[in-house]
Amino acid sequence: MFDTDVLVVGTGPAGATCALALATYGIGVRVATRWNWLANSPRAHITNQRALEVLRDLGVEEQATAVATQWSSMGEMVFAPSLTGPEIARLRTWGTGENRLSDYLQGSPCPLLDIPQPYLEPVLVENAAARGAQVMFNTEYLSHRQDDTGVTSVLRDLLTGHEYTVRSRYLFGADGARSTIVDELGLPIEGTMGRAGTVYARFTADLARYVAHRPGILHRIMIPAFGEIGLNTLRAVRPWHEWIAGWGYDLDGPEPDLRPAVVLDRIRSMIGDPNVEVTITDVTRWQVNQAWATRYDEGRVFCGGDAVHRHPPSSGLGSNTSIQDAFNLAWKLAYVVKGWADPGLLDTYSPERVPIGKQVVARANQSRMDYGLLNEVIGSHDSGSAQARLRLLEDPGPDGVAAREALVAAVERKNEEFNAHGTELNQRYESTAVLVDPNAPQEQWSRDRGLYVQATTRPGAKIPHVWLIDETGHKRSTLDVVGKGSFTVVTGLAGHAWAAAVRKLALPFLRSVVVGEPQTRDSYHDWFRVREIAEAGVLLVRPDGYVAWRHVRPAQDDAEALMLLERALTAVLGQS
Ligand code: FDA
Repeated sequence: MFDTDVLVVGTGPAGATCALALATYGIGVRVATRWNWLANSPRAHITNQRALEVLRDLGVEEQATAVATQWSSMGEMVFAPSLTGPEIARLRTWGTGENRLSDYLQGSPCPLLDIPQPYLEPVLVENAAARGAQVMFNTEYLSHRQDDTGVTSVLRDLLTGHEYTVRSRYLFGADGARSTIVDELGLPIEGTMGRAGTVYARFTADLARYVAHRPGILHRIMIPAFGEIGLNTLRAVRPWHEWIAGWGYDLDGPEPDLRPAVVLDRIRSMIGDPNVEVTITDVTRWQVNQAWATRYDEGRVFCGGDAVHRHPPSSGLGSNTSIQDAFNLAWKLAYVVKGWADPGLLDTYSPERVPIGKQVVARANQSRMDYGLLNEVIGSHDSGSAQARLRLLEDPGPDGVAAREALVAAVERKNEEFNAHGTELNQRYESTAVLVDPNAPQEQWSRDRGLYVQATTRPGAKIPHVWLIDETGHKRSTLDVVGKGSFTVVTGLAGHAWAAAVRKLALPFLRSVVVGEPQTRDSYHDWFRVREIAEAGVLLVRPDGYVAWRHVRPAQDDAEALMLLERALTAVLGQS
């Protein structure tokens, strides 16, 4: 009676991750895109550690790494009047600086990578298909109707024009920023679309001689440009021969002049070499959005990715957040389809992901506005004042001192965009799939929440990453011993009552990990430092790596451990 368990519309980062996860969990999934293939332009690049952790859990981290620009090539961001001009400032980005690298290495088993969408999407979709997902290219989603038992969607085969229906238990709308499905459902959207305009010119040019000694994927060029960033952008797509040049334009003004000769001139000025060989491959325009849905679901239909949070690329959060939406939803769909959880579990998707989407939209837009400080120092908006201000930065007098101090503060602020480790990894969930101890005090942030990761085992937080050692002496992250579609009970050698409870329950989706056993030794004592529970206490970790429940103290005996664990599972999964 069902053609598939879940129909996914969209093969972008959200849809492709959802299809990959569902196929991995053994759930029937069809995924449709209106195009003949996957992303054909670079779009999102930055793949942060949390997104990589998701790919690691789904077993495709190595393949994603193989097509990426490596972390070590990402970090030196130059602020200069041209790529060849004098450097006004340099910022070590994406955690690559000597002052931040250890935070990033401590926070995750994964690196940060730069993976343009045309390289990332095939990894996701090809693996999804290999694991059983049915991928439908040239297939346009038209509409759906849902009832008590399922969803009937109308699709059109764009090669033949043939319209047909697909009956599924659930529908995932990952159909991007102009989502038909969000509109159909009437999901409430707040904020504004089309706040500002940006031109992106893609080009090829061998610029290795200008950047190989200071490898960085993004540079801010101080040629006056319209808009809140007020600077031009040079962005490496593939080091160091494939690039994007970007600049703002006035949505309310005349059409930007995008004649090839004008664009070529601009690119050469940004590079600072009038003779450099440049081949323009594409010139497009896109608009800056600041909009988010306050609900992501309606009945059996769920939406994720840009469909529900629409924001500019600043802070590099677009595809990362989309991947994490999908990962949050996929295990819940799988558990409900397999009969392991009550459908009420699906009601936790929206409360867990809506606050993240809202925050990401605010952060990405704030990152643009924060260029205001820099514009004040270097006067990017008109060439006369820009030149005067750049001269001032070299003035030995008191005005020069003040200008240089202002420059330091302005560049320092950009850490909130480019070294925002906390923004990327400190997500906290609140829902009925997270059992908070009502007597526990509120989490206190010991350092800036946006800049620094805070490791905690509080319910609603991701289990902290530390390295454990297996019987062969190899390192395994705490994230490697949880997840993979299962709930995990994590305890220590003294917590045998919890391990006994897991054996007694004998559930197909529940395993135990006893830290201290030969395959999971805490040789560095790092788990001891971060676990925040007694050795005989317990964590119940969800398939997505988030802590669902913890019992800080030991259980009194095997019977109490069994009773408490059963009660927690029932509360989270809604089954008795
Ligand atoms: P995404 O938009 O990727 O995918 C939507 C999918 O839905 C596509 O497969 C499409 O075919 C399908 N679809 C839509 N309607 C359909 C229908 N009716 N029937 C069938 N299929 C349908 N982000 C970032 O973090 N850094 C960056 O540098 C950039 N740069 C950038 C540049 C440009 C030009 C764009 C357009 C976007 C960016 N982004 C970005 C944003 C980033 O690309 C975006 O956040 C993710 O692609 C969102 O992934 P989704 O899976 O949600 O949608």
